[in-house]
Amino acid sequence: MSDHLTVVTHPLVQHKLTLMRRRETSTAEFRRLLREISQLLAYEITRELPLAHRTIETPLTEMEAPVLAGKKLALVSILRAGNGLLDGVLELIPSARVGFVGLYRDEETLQPVQYYCKLPDALEDRLVIAVDPMLATGNSSAAAVDLMKQAGATNIRFMCLLAAPEGVARMKEAHPDVPIVTAALDKKLNDKGYIVPGLGDAGDRMFGTK
Ligand code: URA
Repeated sequence: MSDHLTVVTHPLVQHKLTLMRRRETSTAEFRRLLREISQLLAYEITRELPLAHRTIETPLTEMEAPVLAGKKLALVSILRAGNGLLDGVLELIPSARVGFVGLYRDEETLQPVQYYCKLPDALEDRLVIAVDPMLATGNSSAAAVDLMKQAGATNIRFMCLLAAPEGVARMKEAHPDVPIVTAALDKKLNDKGYIVPGLGDAGDRMFGTK
């Protein structure tokens, strides 16, 4: 645990994550658990959001009540697995603006190549939460954050379900200013780039593909 990496050790998060990791967990159950965990991670990642005060009237009296300050925050889903985290976070923060970044890996250069990028405007004035369940090599996450910074974002946080030490190191090197919030830091990557012990291919498990 450091300023750069927060592992959310809340027992509910840990219990739900264990259920998600199990081979026999169905697609429907996996999706439901992912939505629930995404909301608990969002609770953690938004803990320091600034508040302003607004005058409201309760049925009894007037009061100065806290509300979120500043421009609506932006959620950026890294396709396609990011969408599994996005849905839950949007339920919690329904007025958030939403962007999508699509990257694939060039099999010759092994570098991420952008195939889609649509981001909300005024990113420089918003807290941007990038969501991708699996921080594996970190190459595509670092490239996605590059795109957000090129579009003006200066205040970015990265939310994932599982992180590998290799991915955390890659992100720290490329984007030391982007804090990572995750439910677990696993042991390693295998030679195919899967997180071990992990949970398999997050996209396949949430969408029921193979
Ligand atoms: N992406 C996944 O879906 N799973 C991994 O283990 C690594 C990357």
